[in-house]
Amino acid sequence: MSETNNYGAMSRLNHWVLALAMIGMLGFGLYLEYSGLPREEKRPLVGIHRSLGVLVLILGLWRVGWRLFRGFPGAVGNMPAWQERAARTAHWVLLAGILLMPASGVAFTVFRGNALSVFGWFEIPAQAEIPWIVSSASFVHTYLGHALAFIVVLHIAAALKHHFVDRDLTLRRMTSGK
Ligand code: HEM
Ligand code: HEM
Repeated sequence: MSETNNYGAMSRLNHWVLALAMIGMLGFGLYLEYSGLPREEKRPLVGIHRSLGVLVLILGLWRVGWRLFRGFPGAVGNMPAWQERAARTAHWVLLAGILLMPASGVAFTVFRGNALSVFGWFEIPAQAEIPWIVSSASFVHTYLGHALAFIVVLHIAAALKHHFVDRDLTLRRMTSGK
């Protein structure tokens, strides 16, 4: 089922909730990485980062599932083919990032033999240690995390360019749905 040439209310809600969540989590993760906080100050923040990340994974499964089910609407106006391809590729990478970032975080935690408590509400149990999963998941978390931060900046710049330079409906159909 395709959304023909518009985003419905659920698609827009999903987009903005996960956009906020992902920008927040990318900022949080990069802060943890580069702030140089001492270990004992960092530990509780990492706990919050992990718990929030698991909640993002749950929301993300719904959001990405919805997009797969509905499909993408066609591009606005007569965009050059290369631009349409670039936008579509970026959208797939962003969707993949919404799932792969938290999933890799969960994987490198539990396959290192640690249980993962989500704000003390529920727990993802520790698994038998599997070093290759830990190293590949932490590779994904670090490198995809940096790449996504860059792609999100490009994505926002593109949205603003469509709105203020091309003056087309790209941004508006994601805000008011017109
Ligand atoms: C949407 C979800 C998430 C995003 C966007 C995100 C993003 C990031 C980024 C950009 C970094 C800095 C790069 C790095 O040090 O690897 C980071 C670090 C980290 N993340 Fe995540 N993360 C998410 C979820 C999770 C989850 C679910 C866990 C664990 C269960 C987790 C655990 C960690 C840990 C342990 C670090 C290293 C902090 C440090 O000691 O520097 N993250 N995250
Ligand atoms: C202020 C921040 C943001 C703005 C202004 C913005 C704007 C937009 C706009 C205007 C579209 C529609 C593009 C089109 O119709 O071709 C769109 C689509 C999309 N955006 Fe964003 N975006 C933002 C942040 C994010 C973030 C942080 C993510 C994910 C990490 C994201 C993921 C997506 C995806 C996957 C689509 C494709 C349609 C969908 O599944 O929702 N966006 N965005």
